[in-house]
Amino acid sequence: MRMLPLLIGWSAATFGCHSLHGESPSEIYQRRVVPLLQSSNASSCSDCHLQGVNLQEFLTSDPKASFASLRARGWIDTEHPSESKFLQFIAKKPERSTDLMDQVRKSELEGIGEWIRASAQDPESLNATLPELKDLKLDDKLMRHARKDQILSRFIDMVWSQFERCANCHSPDRNLKQVEKHGEQMSWIVPNSPTKTLQLLEERKLINLETPMASLLKTKALGKDEHGGGIKFPEDGHTDREWGLFLTDYGAIKRAGYSTSKEIPQFDPIRTWRTGLHLRIKELPALPEGQYVVVLMHRITSEGKVDEETFAIGEGRVSKDGASWGTSMKLIEPAHLRRTHSSVDWSSALPDCRYQLRWIVVDDSKVSLEKVLGLPYTMQTEIDSLWKSGHSAAKTISFSTFKSVSALK
Ligand code: HEC
Ligand code: HEC
Repeated sequence: MRMLPLLIGWSAATFGCHSLHGESPSEIYQRRVVPLLQSSNASSCSDCHLQGVNLQEFLTSDPKASFASLRARGWIDTEHPSESKFLQFIAKKPERSTDLMDQVRKSELEGIGEWIRASAQDPESLNATLPELKDLKLDDKLMRHARKDQILSRFIDMVWSQFERCANCHSPDRNLKQVEKHGEQMSWIVPNSPTKTLQLLEERKLINLETPMASLLKTKALGKDEHGGGIKFPEDGHTDREWGLFLTDYGAIKRAGYSTSKEIPQFDPIRTWRTGLHLRIKELPALPEGQYVVVLMHRITSEGKVDEETFAIGEGRVSKDGASWGTSMKLIEPAHLRRTHSSVDWSSALPDCRYQLRWIVVDDSKVSLEKVLGLPYTMQTEIDSLWKSGHSAAKTISFSTFKSVSALK
């Protein structure tokens, strides 16, 4: 019995177009491939490609046309059919897969492999005219965008990067007391695993794929849904827009909602990383409640020169009584790393030196981060050193320490 799979492969090659059962490639296709296409299981490609790639796009109800188009794409090696690129796509396996997907992959490799090997021996299939490659073009940009590894890196850049704001209460390595008080559902972060966290958020329905903007992950953080943790960042501010964008895009991909890459929205090219450094500014000048204000933090070199590149940003709204403003600071990806794929080593990005703080009242919180970084500032102050992470160690300064920039000149 153990010899059987080998025997079938060998006999198909030896007896030309007919397999051991005397089947033509089309018959093999009907028996082995069509059931895979009709199955309710997702194809193996979906282990990594959430949209833009699907077996059904390449394998239609017409085996001869399908074989011709696979050949036109360069995905069939007629000399060594078992080494065909198409079979290599199917054989790809993510680091973490499920038993179900392993089974799907195995059935596809066997069934489609048998059909490809038989077709590569079949003069009729080999002599068919190939379609023009330009008529087969895939939407590369959509394919790339909807790949799981790409989605995951956007999740890390846009959402996971801000979880320092949530971890004290929602990460099981830190939230013992919170869990005692409020229950197990408090833990929805999986420490050190963005992949599992995204999966958990989805399972727990904290991400709403149908109406992404109504996701509890976002509405709780904004305090729009009553939240035991209060308001974590301002509505329509940079973090909120990043979360909204990630969730909307993710929902669209999961619902197979994009028909072309033209529908993919623009993403902010600047990555940020939330620190546990809390900054509070008291004794504010008269400002309306809820006014959106950002504070930009710039390094001062040992020679006393202010680095023009913004090191960190804090965004928040003026408190109810109008007297204070506070938030945790986000590190900004250095310009020379932008638009590269390398990940940023944020851990070493916290030099202890003097800093200049720039106070900017922003009327339109929806302005892009790039623009915010270029806005003129009127008030500034300096601090002597970095401070410690955590709410209780928040750096609190009085607004009276800020000086008007024009007065300093
Ligand atoms: C284990 C994850 C994984 C699986 C499963 C997977 N792919 Fe991919 N695929 C990738 C990655 C990563 C890239 C981009 C990098 C590369 O080209 O290797 C890619 C690129 C592609 C490309 C474009 C580049 C090229 O080589 O032409 C096509 C087409 C493609 N995959 C088709 C498929 C098909 C069809 C399936 C299912 C039969 C599939 N993939 C299954 C990860 C996967
Ligand atoms: C100081 C503690 C604290 C912090 C920090 C905090 N939360 Fe919460 N959060 C709570 C408490 C308490 C609850 C349970 C009561 C409730 O649902 O509001 C909760 C509940 C939630 C829930 C609902 C969980 C469920 O399954 O019912 C979500 C989602 C959530 N928080 C999101 C966030 C996000 C996102 C952040 C960070 C941006 C955050 N929280 C930061 C205290 C906190």
